[in-house]
Amino acid sequence: NEEREENLRSPICCIMGHVDTGKTKLLDCIRGTHVQEGEAGGITQQIGATYFPAENILERTKELKADAKLKVPGLLVIDTPGHESFTNLRSRGSNLCDIAILVVDIMHGLEPQTIESLNLLRRRNTEFIVALNKVDRLFGWKKCKNAPIRKAMKQQSVDVVNEFNRRVTEVITQFKEQGLNTELYYKNREMGETFSIVPTSAISGEGIPDLLLLLVKWAEKSMVEKLTYVDKVQCTVLEVKVIEGHGTTIDVVLVNGVLHEGDQIVVCGTQEPIVTSIRSLLTPQPLKEIRVKGTYMHHKEVKAAQCIKITAQGLEHAVAGTALHVIGPGEDVEEAKKTAMEDMKSVMSRIDKSGEGVYVQASTLGSLEALLEFLKSPDVQIPVRGIGIGPVHKKDIMKAGAMLEKRKEYATVLAFDVKVTTEARELADKMGVKIFCADIIYHLFDQFKVYIKGIKE
Ligand code: GTP
Ligand code: MG
Ligand code: NA
Repeated sequence: NEEREENLRSPICCIMGHVDTGKTKLLDCIRGTHVQEGEAGGITQQIGATYFPAENILERTKELKADAKLKVPGLLVIDTPGHESFTNLRSRGSNLCDIAILVVDIMHGLEPQTIESLNLLRRRNTEFIVALNKVDRLFGWKKCKNAPIRKAMKQQSVDVVNEFNRRVTEVITQFKEQGLNTELYYKNREMGETFSIVPTSAISGEGIPDLLLLLVKWAEKSMVEKLTYVDKVQCTVLEVKVIEGHGTTIDVVLVNGVLHEGDQIVVCGTQEPIVTSIRSLLTPQPLKEIRVKGTYMHHKEVKAAQCIKITAQGLEHAVAGTALHVIGPGEDVEEAKKTAMEDMKSVMSRIDKSGEGVYVQASTLGSLEALLEFLKSPDVQIPVRGIGIGPVHKKDIMKAGAMLEKRKEYATVLAFDVKVTTEARELADKMGVKIFCADIIYHLFDQFKVYIKGIKE
């Protein structure tokens, strides 16, 4: 058993919650960075990842007299957007992680995307810790920079303590309404049954040591099986991005195994599988966010768990949210190509066999799946004839146009979180194909419903 514990990989932790609860700021506080201030509108619109080496975690938690050694090499944290439009990115993050931090603003309590995140985590039985953030906003709070939370609480006035207790109780009640037991972590006697709350401030750092230590210790204690390193490569494409000087690159999360420069890889593409070889393996500096431009470290090989930027030829049509496969010696490329496209196939199988229906276009495979699921649901029931990933082009309009003769109302493109090219829009106008665009799933349905009603009247 001891030997097994020696071979743990870094846990992957996803940070989730309602918009502006302080997810990115919490990570900035731990990293010593200013990512949040650089975001357009102060809003996260991409999924990101940061690697925290064990030394840094030990440094930040030493006041809590943490053991001198951690069993895991570090922690890989995935930042997700809280804005309601980005359900697909929250879903992608929660699908990947071993453990999560659910951030709640102590001044606001539970909010719509807190509950959405909670449900995403529950669906996969993912353990999580609640960070009850912005404690420094309690009226009269005395800052105790980077102090463990109980130490910081001892410095506060009776009024602050009362206010704190009142708000904590309220949040616990709100969680109870969602069918969940929660308790302040230092009072929690039944971790696993009752979810722990860690009060934090991303501005002055109170509670950060507690959050980090609890996260790592809890993962080490309860997830040995899940965190035991295995050689077989398990890797997911997080994002597909064009980077100056590198062309189209993919950001991946390597959950298990080792990737090498030159490895032959197979990735799911929008039209067909992409077979290519890794030109370079880049990682951000430790404690730096992969989605922020910076100097990358080049590697001959990288061992899991890590977030890596891969440059290679032919990645233009790679689909985010799908698996990356490595062709080992003696392994069959054709087999891997089939496997790579399986995610795509399961989506294709949901297309209406009658050949009548709308055309659906989404930004990623994950969001396309979400949309198809939604369109199939009993109170929606919109048949789908064709699908696509990425921007809407002229060819997509042509395909949707095939319905003009048979069922005019289905000569429609539902575009979810994607751009429509000017040529496509012009062609659609000329042909009489309707395009509905939205970055929130149910808005597409609302628009389509109004349109159908108009046609029938
Ligand atoms: P999205 O990614 O857009 O969902 O937001 P987020 O959850 O990452 O929140 P973000 O880090 O962007 O913080 C939102 C705002 O709250 C910013 O103005 C932060 O400065 C502020 N903020 C975050 N954490 C704290 C905190 O602990 N205390 C105080 N006073 N302000 C905070
Ligand atoms: Mg953010
Ligand atoms: Na924000």
